Amino acid sequence: MPFPLDVPESELRRRRSEKWRAYPEDVLPLFVAETDVLLAPAIRDRLAAAVADGDTGYFAEIERLAGVCARYYSRFGYDVPEDAVVPVNDVGVGVRESLARTVPAGSGVVYTPPVYMPFGPWIRRVGMTPVAVPLLDHDGEDPRLDLAGIERALADGARAVLLSHPHNPTGVVHSRAELAELAELAVRYEAVVISDEIWAPLTLPGVEFSSFLTASDAACEVGLAVSSASKAFNLAGLKCAFVVNGNPERFEVRRSALSGAVGHFGALAAEAALVDSLDWLEQMRAALASNLDLIEKLLTEHLPLARWRRPDAGFVAWIDLRGYPGLGNNPAKLFLDEGRVALSPGPAFGSEGEGFARVNFACSEELLTEAFVRMGRVAAERG
Ligand SMILES: Cc1ncc(COP(=O)(O)O)c(C=O)c1O
Repeated sequence: MPFPLDVPESELRRRRSEKWRAYPEDVLPLFVAETDVLLAPAIRDRLAAAVADGDTGYFAEIERLAGVCARYYSRFGYDVPEDAVVPVNDVGVGVRESLARTVPAGSGVVYTPPVYMPFGPWIRRVGMTPVAVPLLDHDGEDPRLDLAGIERALADGARAVLLSHPHNPTGVVHSRAELAELAELAVRYEAVVISDEIWAPLTLPGVEFSSFLTASDAACEVGLAVSSASKAFNLAGLKCAFVVNGNPERFEVRRSALSGAVGHFGALAAEAALVDSLDWLEQMRAALASNLDLIEKLLTEHLPLARWRRPDAGFVAWIDLRGYPGLGNNPAKLFLDEGRVALSPGPAFGSEGEGFARVNFACSEELLTEAFVRMGRVAAERG
């Protein structure tokens, strides 16, 4: 079992987070985007020291955290100024506040299904209207932005585009050329691009990630990126993320109003992650790549009629099960009811996800193998 995805199930079952509490003990949980790792040692030690010191008060060191995030994010294509970084408590807040502070109330906001399921609700929560422009070839080898469709939506009055980059659930890293074209459209139609880049630290070996903000000069004029250490280092419960404001002169997304709810432990952990745990992150990326090789084998063996595209980033695999019509529109339901494996249901990501299921593969080889054996059994009986 490659480190760090080598934690035995008996230890994981002690956890009280959503992944390990949502279902009964006989279910293998491969759904919500938590990872089955122990904390990177630098993070564990930083948090343990804070516990030992009783250092559990309010978050204070905003400038220090902003500096950490700016230096880390500068690896994705441009020298991020510290004062452009706005710490927030999670990516959802960062996205919603960025929308609310840059786009008029009531505006249409383009999003690109199949996509991370809260996007539509997030847009509605800030009083705006989701406008779906599905990815082209979302079920094929070359998922990409439908730039002509986005242009039509902007021409019809939408004022923002919410990207998932790298894209959840397809795992696609959008190309610079697409992003540069999107930036031009945004300039032309006076729209804002909010790029949810939570998966940026987790590109798989050999894949380059560039932030939307680096796609062209225009991208910085129209864009904000939102990211976090939380997916890569399994810190979601600690509440710390950040917005990179591409154009602080234009966008009123500022620290004073937004950084109060950052978790103190989240900030301590983010610094230990983004400064002191980059070797650990390399090991994590290698272990995820190894699990992708394993999925390739498991699909051939247990679900030979399933199709997928190997993701460029992240730890979710988007599996097309339409080759098994007996599994219906929502294969995850039968896998749960009959196979006792919990996946994320494809249709939750939009109607484009019918016949699909999303597998969280940030787990041990043993768990992954057992999950595919169980799924294969259900598919053979139902398919
Ligand atoms: C694209 C995307 N954005 C945001 C989140 C959630 O981020 P947070 O918990 O920081 O709001 C996730 C979680 O999986 C995600 O996949």
